Amino acid sequence: MSAAHPTPQLERLSQACQRLRLHRVDTELYTVLEQAAKRELGYADFLDEVLGLELAAKQTKHLAMRVTMARFPFQKSLDAFDWSFQPSIDPKVIKELATGRFIAEGANVLLLGPPGVGKTHLAVALGLKACELGLRTMFTTAAGLITSLGKALYENRLEERLKLLTQPKLLIIDEIGYIPIDRQGANLFFQLISRRYERGSILLTSNQSLGAWGEVFGDTVIASAILDRLLHHATTVNIKGDSYRLKEKRRAGLLRPVTHPNHAE
Ligand SMILES: Nc1ncnc2c1ncn2[C@@H]1O[C@H](COP(=O)(O)OP(=O)(O)O)[C@@H](O)[C@H]1O
Ligand SMILES: [Mg+2]
Repeated sequence: MSAAHPTPQLERLSQACQRLRLHRVDTELYTVLEQAAKRELGYADFLDEVLGLELAAKQTKHLAMRVTMARFPFQKSLDAFDWSFQPSIDPKVIKELATGRFIAEGANVLLLGPPGVGKTHLAVALGLKACELGLRTMFTTAAGLITSLGKALYENRLEERLKLLTQPKLLIIDEIGYIPIDRQGANLFFQLISRRYERGSILLTSNQSLGAWGEVFGDTVIASAILDRLLHHATTVNIKGDSYRLKEKRRAGLLRPVTHPNHAE
């Protein structure tokens, strides 16, 4: 509230706003009242405006909180994605995923393809959409996730850690396949997948085809048990094409075009 000489009623209103945690209305109380009087707003219109003001402020604040909690490595949207550069991706599939329906169904998403084709970009953009939908989201790399699970096991806090990782509606696990996973890591990863199975969505990215996951996890039995659960309800997006990172260099003639082996099946 910012009136030069607040009346007792204005002071009372301001206190009520504070107790009800209507902070935005409190800050703008005087202006809101003045404007409403000037525009001769009806009762319902006035209430509509006041509550709408607070709601919008709260939504903005909650979104910012969810985005911070998600720990994205950067923020990029689907609007910033150049679909024409990566024709192997069907924009309709990604736009369907952006509705968040897969999260409501507890289904998973696998983004597969060589480095630089936009897997992390799309994962972050879909994660931001989930945040906008009010869904708790967490971003992690496979290496970071397995290290944290190993540490929790060592510290006798595995159960606690697994519970924490089961809470987000969407768990994004980036970069499976870059670093080989040892037996203990594979086991911990399997436990996490089992926990979240049909309870919470996982979106993961990998530079390796699913057929190569046996090598990634150092064990074909555990890899197929992981894949079995992940793929039960899942959308798989196979991205084939050139690295966007190298696009400019290639354009400038600094690099020769490359063809990628057929990556993900
Ligand atoms: N089709 C695209 N349109 C716009 N930017 C892209 C596209 N593909 C990749 N990029 C950008 O190129 C960089 C590498 O993409 P990234 O998502 O990290 O690739 P990946 O995770 O597949 O290795 C990022 O800065 C990303 O925003
Ligand atoms: Mg990446």
